[in-house]
Amino acid sequence: MAIPASYIQELVARNDIYDTVSRYVSLQRAGRLYKGLCPFHSERSPSFMVYPETQSYYCFGCGAGGDVIKFTMEMNSLSYIEAVRYLAQQSGMPMPDEDDGQAKLKSRILQMNKLAARFFYDTLNSDAGRNARKYLRDRQLSDKTIVNFGLGYAPAEWQGLTNYLRSKGFTDEEMTRGYLAARNKNGNLYDIFRDRVMFPIIDLRGNVIAFGGRRMGDEGGPKYLNSGDTPVFKKSNGLFALNLAKKSGKDTFILAEGYMDVIAMHQAGFNNAVATLGTALTSQQAKLIGDYAKKVIISYDSDEAGQKATRRAMEIFEKEEVTVQVLQMDGAKDPDEYIKKYGAQRFEMLLEGANSALDFQLLKLKNQYDIQNPEQRVEYLTKACDILAGLTNPIQQDVYCTRLANETSTDKASIKLQIDRAKAKNRRRENRKKEQELLRSGVGRQIKVDYRQKGNTMPKAFAQQQIICALVRDNSLYNDVRTKLTADNFTDGDMKRAYIAFENLIEQHIPVDYATLAYHMPQDSANVLAGIFARNADIIITGKDVQMHIENLLTAKLSQSEASEKSIDDLARRIKSLKEKKK
Ligand code: UTP
Ligand code: MN
Repeated sequence: MAIPASYIQELVARNDIYDTVSRYVSLQRAGRLYKGLCPFHSERSPSFMVYPETQSYYCFGCGAGGDVIKFTMEMNSLSYIEAVRYLAQQSGMPMPDEDDGQAKLKSRILQMNKLAARFFYDTLNSDAGRNARKYLRDRQLSDKTIVNFGLGYAPAEWQGLTNYLRSKGFTDEEMTRGYLAARNKNGNLYDIFRDRVMFPIIDLRGNVIAFGGRRMGDEGGPKYLNSGDTPVFKKSNGLFALNLAKKSGKDTFILAEGYMDVIAMHQAGFNNAVATLGTALTSQQAKLIGDYAKKVIISYDSDEAGQKATRRAMEIFEKEEVTVQVLQMDGAKDPDEYIKKYGAQRFEMLLEGANSALDFQLLKLKNQYDIQNPEQRVEYLTKACDILAGLTNPIQQDVYCTRLANETSTDKASIKLQIDRAKAKNRRRENRKKEQELLRSGVGRQIKVDYRQKGNTMPKAFAQQQIICALVRDNSLYNDVRTKLTADNFTDGDMKRAYIAFENLIEQHIPVDYATLAYHMPQDSANVLAGIFARNADIIITGKDVQMHIENLLTAKLSQSEASEKSIDDLARRIKSLKEKKK
């Protein structure tokens, strides 16, 4: 969908980058810019910068960068258009073409889902639902639980629901878009959910946004069938029973793998349980949990797959401000089975004894070694010290250090020494990584090859970047630049794209700022551009400078022999001194 550039410009103007970012990141003023800890990767010293002048941000650590729209996309895992819509809402702008159609379809699908849930519920309680009622009883679900979760039954018919919805005035299109019906070869509709126990997925506003359906026997397709993405539902954002867990008012959530685990837990009184919907945990879901809970206890299946998923989930939670604990379950496959076998009380004890994520990690590690064997003990200790080196809290570090010393009958001081070594190693690695990333992106990437002639020591790509930067800051410079350069003078792919986009916009008499340009470029190039604006934020580029860069572009030749690796700071210094000499 094409949104007019003027709309984007107003949107960006109304959603100040500083205001927007500071809702998520604590920012400190540093001259003309703001600094903070990057929300997109974990770091301890701030390399995330916000530039009010260009209304852009850039992280020197991970290379994330862009404008307020890009930030909103990345921060909330939204698509471009969703981010635009979100920002429009924030600032009270109407959507450019919140085409009535889409909004209407959404509300129709929600109405339809509500009726479908009702239909499934009624069918469960009709003659056709006898088997399903028996199934649920066999799985020890009470009537109260069935009502609480709004469980239902999709009849074993090809057009049960379809006919019903049609009688209520819903169109074929609405049914297929809402993932309740599909078309066969002849173009006729049939029910997607047939002969299944139905679990409605309900959002925080009480809307039925999707369904999961479980087959009752051993045959008939996959065990669980889930709604695909629809205009009202994104699988990767959804959580089963979040509506109920939120209502529980508890600040700890239990995260399980399956529908039935969640239902069994709620029935046993653990009404703070939620589950993902047949997919691995995503960062959006982790964020959602973090919004409502201070602590999450991961209660995945005890099998190998469940344990693997646990480790992945732990990593994903690392970015959230939520304490993570891991439930260690023996003697049962999953919480549902555990509660049935051992009762709610023992499950509660299990929850109380849940290990911290760190304990879990250390325990897993320890299980890989035979501590009695000296060689293996050393290996275990080394690996454990690597883990402890990542701790930022010195008290916590000391506690674990003591524990490790006792557990392996090793001197605590030497464990401490090993941790310090690991820390130093981490720091070196982090620095190296940072350097490499700088070299790979933007200016850094270009500096390896120097272009020199007549005492000119400016790399050619740098000149291109400076010209683009200057043009965006002051569009009127284009009057001059256009008479001297064409897009082909831009040998750097990203800068060439930027220049072409710039020219196109100017031709349409559209003023070009960073956000506008970014909108008209491929995302990767826009990202590179953000980095370049970031690096040049403190450099004033005058019309004279632009002249110099143009000359440089037109005359300089590559001198491979002088290729050298220079840091970005070196470059900045050279430019400064060059400018001073000129004065
Ligand atoms: P499980 O196979 O562990 O199911 O899958 P469960 O919840 O313990 O179910 P019961 O006890 O056998 O009824 C865990 C979750 O993975 C998704 C579902 O969300 C399920 O709850 N899943 C599983 C699917 O989406 N499709 C499948 O075919 C199987
Ligand atoms: Mn199960």
